[in-house]
Amino acid sequence: MTDIKEKLSAFSRRFNDCLPEFFTLPAGPEKRVVQAMEYSVMNGGKRLRPFLVCECAALFGVPEEKSFRTAVALEMLHSYSLIHDDLPCMDNDDMRRGKPSNHKVYGENYALLAGDGLLTKAFETALSSEAFRNVGMERAAYAAAVLARCAGEYGMVGGQCIDLATENRTVSLDELCEKDTGKTANLIMAACMMGCIAAGANETQINAAKEYALHIGLAFQIRDDMLDVIGDEATFGKPIGSDKAEEKTTFVDLLGLAACEREVVRLTDEAISALSPFGGEADFLAALSHSMETRNK
Ligand code: IPE
Ligand code: IPE
Ligand code: MG
Ligand code: MG
Ligand code: MG
Repeated sequence: MTDIKEKLSAFSRRFNDCLPEFFTLPAGPEKRVVQAMEYSVMNGGKRLRPFLVCECAALFGVPEEKSFRTAVALEMLHSYSLIHDDLPCMDNDDMRRGKPSNHKVYGENYALLAGDGLLTKAFETALSSEAFRNVGMERAAYAAAVLARCAGEYGMVGGQCIDLATENRTVSLDELCEKDTGKTANLIMAACMMGCIAAGANETQINAAKEYALHIGLAFQIRDDMLDVIGDEATFGKPIGSDKAEEKTTFVDLLGLAACEREVVRLTDEAISALSPFGGEADFLAALSHSMETRNK
């Protein structure tokens, strides 16, 4: 477990060191939006999704520097989703990653634009000439197409719509699974699929990684809903009790904490079974998913 945590924090350090090069400050009025974009990306996330991109590419022997741009692209898109998710018209949350939310620092108008900017910059990065040099033009384009699909109305945006449509009413377990698959599992699926695609994996391998990601993604969101109840704000980095305040139904409401814990374990086991085509090469991904079962941040 400590090995996994150390590997992820070493990755985060390398990742954070490289990020500023993506944010050159322009001189004009657009300077403020770039500052707002950089604020949220640099703002201390766990870097789980970019780590998964690089680890999935590493299954096929591809070194981190080759899959790095693909990983940065995904983290930009994830950061945009968080900025917009925190806005007053969405979850109305004032804290993110242990710091004031983007709109609390830059105002709602710039937070909106910073999200737009990061969403766009994700594709600029995934389709940059450097990404083409690293993984080849076709693979970079395929990875970008998967990112678009997983982020849009059939993925994260779709899940956010279900989230809004199910506020303040009884929700079935199936609806909740659909919502969490959309809003959370999809970007984790994008991470694992993009890593495999960048490495030139075949469709069977890409689908195995997708199945793994779907299950860890759902487990991740259930754990997140649990932490919204039992977490410690300073460690979790975001407000506790936000779901209740916004009248969201979560797995904790439907199952209770103990059954949520069992569901996280069951989903993690299913995720690990999906890794079987990769044999021992995927031992680290299996261990990583186990370490997430009990995460506190
Ligand atoms: C937060 O994701 C959004 C959810 C899907 C629950 P993370 O917990 O990975 O957020 P960061 O990137 O570490 O801040
Ligand atoms: C996050 O769901 C989904 C996206 C940001 C797309 P939540 O709204 O539950 O995430 P947190 O709890 O604010 O991180
Ligand atoms: Mg939300
Ligand atoms: Mg939220
Ligand atoms: Mg939440």
